[in-house]
Amino acid sequence: MNRAETFELSSQAERLIRGRRATRAFRPQAVPEETVRAIFSLAGAAPSNSNAQPWQVEVASGAVRDRLADALPRAHAERRVSVDFPYSEDMYSQVHQARRAEFGAELYGALGIGLDDHAARAAYDAESLRFYGAPHVAFLFVTGDGGPRLAADGGAYMQTLLLAMTAYGVDSCPQGLLSFYADTIRGELGVTTGKLLVGISFGYADETAPVNQVTTGRAALETTTAFHECE
Ligand SMILES: Cc1cc2nc3c(=O)[nH]c(=O)nc-3n(C[C@H](O)[C@H](O)[C@H](O)COP(=O)(O)O)c2cc1C
Repeated sequence: MNRAETFELSSQAERLIRGRRATRAFRPQAVPEETVRAIFSLAGAAPSNSNAQPWQVEVASGAVRDRLADALPRAHAERRVSVDFPYSEDMYSQVHQARRAEFGAELYGALGIGLDDHAARAAYDAESLRFYGAPHVAFLFVTGDGGPRLAADGGAYMQTLLLAMTAYGVDSCPQGLLSFYADTIRGELGVTTGKLLVGISFGYADETAPVNQVTTGRAALETTTAFHECE
């Protein structure tokens, strides 16, 4: 690749990677089927350890999506929580917690929800189980023993998928919350193998929704990355 081509590609990568953001209000308009297929075909190019590709992806649209959008809030109301990957607030360090708090202030501020208004926050989270109104949702299952190394491959797949969506003009939101209802999702889709890592709602953003104006910063490069032996 010559210098001009490298410059062009890196500029596109900047636009693609920095142009992706979590969308939390969607228009009902469906993504054309050929675009959906092109996106998931591209996402399959994700890297994985020894090229094992330890993932199974279930994409729900139309009536199946609608059934799930009913079943998940019901499971939530009935406290039928089932997680394949254990979750605990203790997994976060202090610095993680500080970043999470900053993000929470941004998000709930945009929604007009006070930080101490736990009832309103819980209601918003429960409503998010309807995929923020997105017409499609993809569930990412990690296959094999679903251990941490295979889950890391799942993470590589997820980011490749999110970027593929951005490249095709499709907006998305990865939703860890959906993975708290793994049995409900398995039951609705008839899935019998794999551990549910995350759900990804996708479609076209409602640009008029204030929540979609939320921007997130990132830690300074030096705080997360060390360069050894660099000039
Ligand atoms: C694995 C994972 C799980 C997430 N779970 C949720 C979720 O349950 N609900 C939600 O609204 N956003 C969720 N997000 C989106 C993050 O909040 C978002 O990616 C982060 O704040 C950075 O913002 P950005 O994606 O707009 O750059 C999740 C993201 C990832 C990668």
